[in-house]
Amino acid sequence: MRTPIIEALSSPASRDEITVCGWVRTRRDAKAFSFLELNDGSCLRGIQVVVDAGTPGSEALLEMTTGASVEVKGRLVASQGKGQAWEVQAAQVVLLGGADESYPLQKKGHTLEFLREIAHLRPRSNLFGAVFRVRSRMAYAVHTFFQERGFLNVHTPMITASDCEGAGEMFRVTTLAPGAGKLEEDFFGKPTFLTVSGQLEAETLACALGKVYTFGPTFRAENSNTSRHAAEFWMIEPEQAFCDLAGNMDLAEAQLQHQVRDALAHCAEDLAFFSNYVDKGLLERLKFVAERPFQRVSYTEAVQLLEASGQAFAYPVAYGLNLQSEHERWLTEQHFQCPVIVYNYPKEIKPFYMRQNDDGLTVAAMDVLVPGIGEIIGGSQREERPERLAAAMAHHGLSEADYWWYADLRKYGTVPHAGYGMGFERLLMFITGVGNIRDVIPFARTPGHAAF
Ligand code: 4AD
Ligand code: MG
Repeated sequence: MRTPIIEALSSPASRDEITVCGWVRTRRDAKAFSFLELNDGSCLRGIQVVVDAGTPGSEALLEMTTGASVEVKGRLVASQGKGQAWEVQAAQVVLLGGADESYPLQKKGHTLEFLREIAHLRPRSNLFGAVFRVRSRMAYAVHTFFQERGFLNVHTPMITASDCEGAGEMFRVTTLAPGAGKLEEDFFGKPTFLTVSGQLEAETLACALGKVYTFGPTFRAENSNTSRHAAEFWMIEPEQAFCDLAGNMDLAEAQLQHQVRDALAHCAEDLAFFSNYVDKGLLERLKFVAERPFQRVSYTEAVQLLEASGQAFAYPVAYGLNLQSEHERWLTEQHFQCPVIVYNYPKEIKPFYMRQNDDGLTVAAMDVLVPGIGEIIGGSQREERPERLAAAMAHHGLSEADYWWYADLRKYGTVPHAGYGMGFERLLMFITGVGNIRDVIPFARTPGHAAF
């Protein structure tokens, strides 16, 4: 039975028999023996294997070059060398698969751009191994956070006929040949799309089950080639009945802090790597975020701060305009120097479903902004009053015929409710310090790119 290298390295005692498998990172040859450094992805570190001359299988040693896959049987012994507590003294080595000099990950120092072109091999590098281990842990932590608080995990459809965000940035799903066929002949008999958010469906479940969350793939056909936008990304969307904007902000803050604390507790080695090689200030920032309460400011106050900042922004700042990434980053990085929740946005710049405030101008929206990224979470209290919702839908040009089921929630036993969406890749950028969304998802989909 194979022992993962992470287990071998944390073994409490030596072992007479052990089998480890992995890919060769380096081989060094001395006269009477060779050292193989094997990595199997279970952790950042590799294990050192000592292969004495004459060890069964060592005839193939010259082919055990960087990238080759190897199985080693032997003894786990205390290491004589420095840098590792344990090493494997090989009794048998088996070359599983060679890798010749064309193996692209020979040496360190490749650019991230080059590594994107070999997305099928980059998980074997230190950086991407660490990113995908953290990704897995953070997904797990999403579930523990909500499950421990009594939220039910619900699955909302990937194919939908509604445009939740009203931005029209949707991918069409059709079985009609390009230019041919009538809409009624299409598979669903009407225009359908890949979902931009599971929120509307999640609301129906929250208005029955109380507290729910979704965690799934989300698609946006926005043609923005930025380091923070992907055409396919994962979103976590909690929705709570009997909850207002303040409760929603509390939950968002608690979840983000939970994710950070969980990463600090369970991904220490990988985070130390990111802190050394990707973003020097990472650990300090994460510890800070894990402990301090977030700042909360209204959109109106945020605009006043930006106007008074004296900063030369590329995009204009004025009440009624959307906050751009540079504005969000100034608020969180320069001004408050901590995560910030901006709430109560003008209704004109927000979707139809957000609850109107008594001022008649703003809606109960909230965005959580974090240093290095800007917006990581967007959410709101939902409009639960039937007449107000009908008016907002008419205002946004949505037909009641399409959203009758959504309106029904307000007709039968309506309740105050609220929720948000957290971009999972944005979360990972924040936790790892990795600066481009293309590098926190195994196979990124962005405008013009759908390789692999
Ligand atoms: O702010 P957004 O558009 O909110 C919604 O979709 C709501 N329906 C969520 C809800 O209330 N249930 O998106 C939520 C989050 C953003 O804050 C951002 O982190 C992420 O999703 N996001 C993206 N991440 C990567 N690539 C994109 N193109 C993204 N668009 C949004
Ligand atoms: Mg948003």
